[in-house]
Amino acid sequence: MILHNSSNFPIGIDISDLSIKICQINKIGNNVFIQASAKSNLPKGMIEDSRIVKKEELGELIRDLVSNPKIGKFTSTDVAVCLPENKTFVKLITIEKNPNDIAEVIKIEIEKYIPMAIDEMYFDWQIIKTLPQGQLVLIGAAPKAIVDEYSQLFDSTGFTVSAFEIESTAICRALLKEESNKFKDNETGNYGIIDIGEKQTSMIVYAAGTILFTVSMPVSGEMITQKISDTLQIDFAQAEKAKILCGLDKEKASGVVSDIIDEVISDLVARIEDVNKFHMYHYSEYGKINKLLLCGGGSNILDLHHTLKKRLGIEVEIGNTLNNLTGKEIINGSPFSKKIVRLENEPGWATAIGLALRGVFVDEI
Ligand SMILES: Nc1ncnc2c1ncn2[C@@H]1O[C@H](COP(=O)(O)OP(=O)(O)OP(=O)(O)O)[C@@H](O)[C@H]1O
Ligand SMILES: [Mg+2]
Repeated sequence: MILHNSSNFPIGIDISDLSIKICQINKIGNNVFIQASAKSNLPKGMIEDSRIVKKEELGELIRDLVSNPKIGKFTSTDVAVCLPENKTFVKLITIEKNPNDIAEVIKIEIEKYIPMAIDEMYFDWQIIKTLPQGQLVLIGAAPKAIVDEYSQLFDSTGFTVSAFEIESTAICRALLKEESNKFKDNETGNYGIIDIGEKQTSMIVYAAGTILFTVSMPVSGEMITQKISDTLQIDFAQAEKAKILCGLDKEKASGVVSDIIDEVISDLVARIEDVNKFHMYHYSEYGKINKLLLCGGGSNILDLHHTLKKRLGIEVEIGNTLNNLTGKEIINGSPFSKKIVRLENEPGWATAIGLALRGVFVDEI
């Protein structure tokens, strides 16, 4: 079946060490919806610490997922790909008034903020605001070695990369109304967005309509499962089931599992408090972080958002990955307004949906 009005928007591809999630968005009229999606777990060793080890196998798997999606049909060979969060950097900086070309100034300044040599990174920047004393600029950088590796993967797989994105940018685009072109309200929120993945967790601090900075956090879904497995002397698969069934619910399994998860969550709470302090020290003019949004599969841990709310005393919600979609699906060419595409484990899709929305938002400008 060829979809009527098929999407030309680039396909969003979120590659992690142990999973790949692919999503394409379509827009018909004011209707922005998921046209197609596919997900696969990756075998250990195909990607290690964000480096592609088995390029041909991975390319084959991506081709196969795009040809055989779980939902809908992919209709583009252009892709928007995210770069691994723990290897990239994003930060809001002030560039003082300067008679020289701003691009040249940033080239010199960037090494002060990013722990990489200039000739080993690709970087990009965007002026967020002009201030009396200079410009507020959001800088992002990624190691050349990683970008080149991902470029080669997609070139050899028959796709055209329309954009490489830093993961936090994609996550904000999926979760925050502020990132939609339609957002008119001047009252933007101050958020801490925590993406709890299988291998890594990061926190994005967002205020006044822009990312201020991102930091990595000392937890991961895998780490929690491993801790349950080690403490209870059960295998990893059983520990994974126990984590999902019990979470932080003290009523389940006499609280044995929740106590183990609680220890890891205490480290997370301590780190969030540190990030809050750092934020108030360096970015106090933006005001306090007043809401935490959780995403990534780990945000599904039972009772996690209540626990964080109690311990931190701020509002905590699981982020809505469908926030900037209108949800209607096109079936056999005609909009069918009641059917909303729901993905399994929705909070884990923030990155892929944000990447797929990029084309829609840029196109609307
Ligand atoms: N209901 C649940 N309760 C607890 N944890 C869950 C639940 N569902 C999924 N998870 C955990 O979510 C994690 C996977 O999340 P996600 O899909 O966001 O990771 P990823 O994007 O593949 O990895 P990463 O971003 O770290 O590279 C796994 O550790 C899994 O155990
Ligand atoms: Mg992830």
